[in-house]
Amino acid sequence: MTHMHVAGAIHADTVTPAPKWLQTPVDVNALDPKLWSRTVTRGADGVLRVGGLAVSEIVDRVETPAYVIDELDFRARAREFRAAFDGWDVFYAAKSFLCTTSARWIAEEGLNMDVCSGNELTVALAGGMPAERIGFHGNNKTVAELTQAVEVGVGRIIVDSLTEIERLQEICAERQVRVGVMVRVTAGVEAHTHEYIATAHEDQKFGLSITGGQALEGLLACHRAPDLDLRGIHSHIGSQIFEVAGFEVAIRRTLELHKEFLDRTGVDLPELDLGGGFGIPYISADRPRSAEYLAGAMEALVRRECRGLELTNVPRLSVEPGRAISGTPGMALYRVGTVKMVDLAEGVQRCYVSVDGGMSDNIRPALYGAEYSATVASRRSDAGPLLCRVVGKHCESGDILVRDEFLPADITPGDVIAVPGAGAYSRSMANNYNHALKPPVVSVRDGELTTLIRRETMADLLALDAGYAPDA
Ligand code: LLP
Repeated sequence: MTHMHVAGAIHADTVTPAPKWLQTPVDVNALDPKLWSRTVTRGADGVLRVGGLAVSEIVDRVETPAYVIDELDFRARAREFRAAFDGWDVFYAAKSFLCTTSARWIAEEGLNMDVCSGNELTVALAGGMPAERIGFHGNNKTVAELTQAVEVGVGRIIVDSLTEIERLQEICAERQVRVGVMVRVTAGVEAHTHEYIATAHEDQKFGLSITGGQALEGLLACHRAPDLDLRGIHSHIGSQIFEVAGFEVAIRRTLELHKEFLDRTGVDLPELDLGGGFGIPYISADRPRSAEYLAGAMEALVRRECRGLELTNVPRLSVEPGRAISGTPGMALYRVGTVKMVDLAEGVQRCYVSVDGGMSDNIRPALYGAEYSATVASRRSDAGPLLCRVVGKHCESGDILVRDEFLPADITPGDVIAVPGAGAYSRSMANNYNHALKPPVVSVRDGELTTLIRRETMADLLALDAGYAPDA
């Protein structure tokens, strides 16, 4: 697999891109606008600018590695989803990037939020997201998490197993409260994305199977539970999806189930959630769909299916975009430490550019084979393009950040490299491998820089090491 969306094999209207080394080298100073947040430009001095600040100034202030979020772009994408899905409910998937500030932005832009742990819930609430606008996900929520969700009054809990339905009913009964629930189902869709981020095929841990009958059983169990207010069916087919074909199958199968439940109980469920997973461009070959296109296509499919099934009430629809809001507004900044030419074969070399981060701040290439792009951000270059591999500093040969990118042939230690598309699932999946310290997240807007999450320190890590005795 060369890229996460396995282009060509499954998307009729996309073409498998040629390997980078067969492509015509690009202008190394050019920026493909779709990959970058909307305020990004290369200034007259050759330095990348974002949010009205030069990258050189940002790294002077916060050092590298660091994540930079373009606040206005983040907010604009949130608003665009809300406007495009007018009449739907849009839940921002907090797992893609969450801190109290991003929760506040989402609350201010009028979106709802999906969380999938008690700790995410705590941050969302601390950021000012009203509990009733929060949906709580997870295939193994603990009793403590369910209790927290019920006690703070989350709008809905997406139940994922028959065990959980019983557990939640008990928690609600003890407290004499009712809670809104959706039943997460597996629609049996083979979403065309990496196996680890596809979630609607049968053989995986999420949801209740429509085919196997457990989904209907789950709906009936919620219907019988006196303190569960069953709102509807929830389906999430996977991530980094560019086409609506997968959603089409999910829409058909969930609405058939909706109809079956209506026939069995006389209850016309008021809602239907179709999940998130809308793909973003990480490399120039990616062809993302706009929020308007997705909304129009999905709504048309729902209406068509409802007509076919003779459902007179179209349920209220919702979606849960994560990276489509948070991904592109964020970039990661690294400093080049070493540049090494490695012989691949007689007369063929690959240039390895090692930077001061790696799989601890972006595990996606190592985990999913995800592809990224990069540019030298600290200057313009007149040198020709050199095909490079940008790698991290971890003790692991799979510690690759950007598998193939044309960088200027004069790439040199000290240069700052920017990687676009790092707003989603980078900081949120960061780890401390090799005792790496998680980088800070700063936002930029109108020339102002704000720290959203500070850089982790060695003192933070040592504070966890119960055996650490500085003077021993
Ligand atoms: N809704 C549900 C129920 C989900 O499980 C997810 C993602 C989303 C919405 C948002 O998906 P998005 O629109 O951001 O693609 N960590 C991976 C992907 C796994 C995400 C899990 N759930 C990645 O780095 O690509």
